[in-house]
Amino acid sequence: MKKLTVALALLLTASAAQADLEWAYQVFEEQLHEVDENAPRSVPGSTESYTQVEIDDLWNPPDWFPDDHAPLPEVVARGAGENVRACASCHLTSGMGHPESSQLAGLPVGYMMRQMEDFANGSRTDRFWMNGFAEAISDEDALAAAEYYAAIEPIDWVDVIESDTVPTHYVGDGRMRFRHPDGGTEPLGNRILEFPQDRELATARHPYTGFVAYAPVGSIARGEELATTGGGGRTIQCTICHGEGLTGLAEIPGIAGASPIYTVRQLNDIKTGARSGPMTALMIATVANLTEEDIVALAAYLASLDP
Ligand code: HEC
Ligand code: HEC
Repeated sequence: MKKLTVALALLLTASAAQADLEWAYQVFEEQLHEVDENAPRSVPGSTESYTQVEIDDLWNPPDWFPDDHAPLPEVVARGAGENVRACASCHLTSGMGHPESSQLAGLPVGYMMRQMEDFANGSRTDRFWMNGFAEAISDEDALAAAEYYAAIEPIDWVDVIESDTVPTHYVGDGRMRFRHPDGGTEPLGNRILEFPQDRELATARHPYTGFVAYAPVGSIARGEELATTGGGGRTIQCTICHGEGLTGLAEIPGIAGASPIYTVRQLNDIKTGARSGPMTALMIATVANLTEEDIVALAAYLASLDP
């Protein structure tokens, strides 16, 4: 009976811990900015024009700068059948992605193929999309997409601002978090919240417009201390596996410059077991003793680095 109580208490703590990081798994609430879905839109420097309806066609997303990148593999540009959407619709043609998805630019091919396998067999869970796409995609298409994105140099994508407050906001179309049209601020607490640097460009799926992240005051220095020293046994120095500058080592992914809410989701998912592929085991000792404040601090620090 005593054992049961302890188990129950642990279970409650575990679910409470996860619930407190829910802000990192942003879920569509409502769309508060008005959008004319059928008006032609353009972006500076591009001769292309698309309506919002076309921009949001997840089997045929916009390609604003077709001369800037290698030819898009069919699956990246158009998906593959009804169960695999075009990778570029969420990860963009630049592979930099949005905070609610992820950056693929510059990740090792072997790493990406392993993630696709982990999504397909369920050892890694994305609450929204990736498990279904990974189950349905052919090996050839997965490889073509991985090779396309691996060849792209990642760019500086996130500006981190330490602050006690954050603009009042909502999660709208594309599961993106926007500043509330009425303005205002609210306490940040132990969260990191990301907003597009330019709402118009981000909702146009522009490949080169990044994000601003609000992080708790002192979090970057605290994250640096944990990442570089291990925090006196609390965690393990990240450079040992992720390489100098944390830009990746062999098939271990780069983590420098990553979207901080993406990092929060990964550290939390690894801790709770929602991400538990064979190679993920190497991360368990790193996350086992991290508190939510530690996770937020590490995410802020990584986001502050150059990719
Ligand atoms: C509808 C949006 C969407 C589309 C389309 C999409 N993805 Fe994703 N992808 C996501 C999300 C969301 C995540 C992050 C999951 C998480 O937070 O753990 C992700 C993560 C990934 C990752 C893991 C990255 C990492 O650093 O571990 C890979 C690899 C990936 N996607 C490949 C693809 C490929 C290849 C395609 C095209 C066949 C594709 N995705 C299409 C939404 C999408
Ligand atoms: C013992 C080796 C090791 C150490 C130490 C380590 N990592 Fe990792 N990390 C890995 C491996 C391997 C992966 C890829 C796991 C997989 O394939 O699922 C990974 C993946 C990650 C990811 C997910 C990346 C993505 O694109 O989804 C994050 C975030 C991360 N590590 C953060 C950290 C941080 C922060 C530290 C230091 C506090 C750290 N790691 C220390 C081995 C390590």
